[in-house]
Amino acid sequence: MIVLEGVRLTLGDRQVLEGISFQVQPGETKVILGGSGSGKTTILRLILGLFRPDRGSIRVAGEEITVLREQDLAQIRQNMAMVFQGAALFDSLTVRENVGYRLWEQGRLSDEVIEQKVRESLQFVGLEDAIDKMPADLSGGMRKRVGIARALASGAKLLLYDEPTAGLDPINGFTICHLILRLKTKGVTQVVVTHDLDIAFRVADRIVMIQDGRIIFEGTPEELGGSQDPAIRGFLDPSCLPPEAREAWSSRDAG
Ligand SMILES: Nc1ncnc2c1ncn2[C@@H]1O[C@H](COP(=O)(O)OP(=O)(O)O)[C@@H](O)[C@H]1O
Ligand SMILES: [Mg+2]
Repeated sequence: MIVLEGVRLTLGDRQVLEGISFQVQPGETKVILGGSGSGKTTILRLILGLFRPDRGSIRVAGEEITVLREQDLAQIRQNMAMVFQGAALFDSLTVRENVGYRLWEQGRLSDEVIEQKVRESLQFVGLEDAIDKMPADLSGGMRKRVGIARALASGAKLLLYDEPTAGLDPINGFTICHLILRLKTKGVTQVVVTHDLDIAFRVADRIVMIQDGRIIFEGTPEELGGSQDPAIRGFLDPSCLPPEAREAWSSRDAG
């Protein structure tokens, strides 16, 4: 479904990503795990075709997107939906209008069919009763779920999440994890970007771990948990490092 090969990206005078290669299989839930500033959001932007790499290849559904013109990229993006960090709802629109927005904009379906899809999507995330509410009347966790409903309603084959549990309390975070797991059983392909180990281990089929714009691990959650690589152990559990290494690790994390 998605194949990145040898991707390098420089933004301004900064090399943000180097040697990024991984694949996302159809139906797979792939987690991209890494600390703040490691390059996770940038990878999502590359997959959406919002950045072009300096070198390397990015194929989405068999199509090399690095060479596409903007109008062809728009076509590819129709099959993807992004669940943003802050849910990114339109404040002046109702929940119904937010969820159905993309379908109305496309203008291909009747109002009745769109209403049906909107309701089904809201039902899936447990928010059918909120259909007439405004985003301001919802909690952070509910807004996140509306964001997921919007992604579902769009009919996208590929869902991209940027820090889906950030800013949520553990219970709401758990609800989002549960939704991602349910979508997995429905065969949806998902890429979940997070710095949160808990969600990574809960939802991932496979994990790509990045640090300073490079991949330091690719494999299953079990393989990650069993890794003896000091950098990986440090990220998983800084308390298991000797004090000097722990200090070096945390100062590196801050930078
Ligand atoms: N548009 C941009 N111009 C310059 N540097 C950027 C831009 N976007 C991101 N960066 C830099 O790229 C690095 C990775 O950013 P990002 O992908 O947002 O990290 P993450 O999502 O893992 O926190 C950071 O050092 C950030 O400052
Ligand atoms: Mg980010």
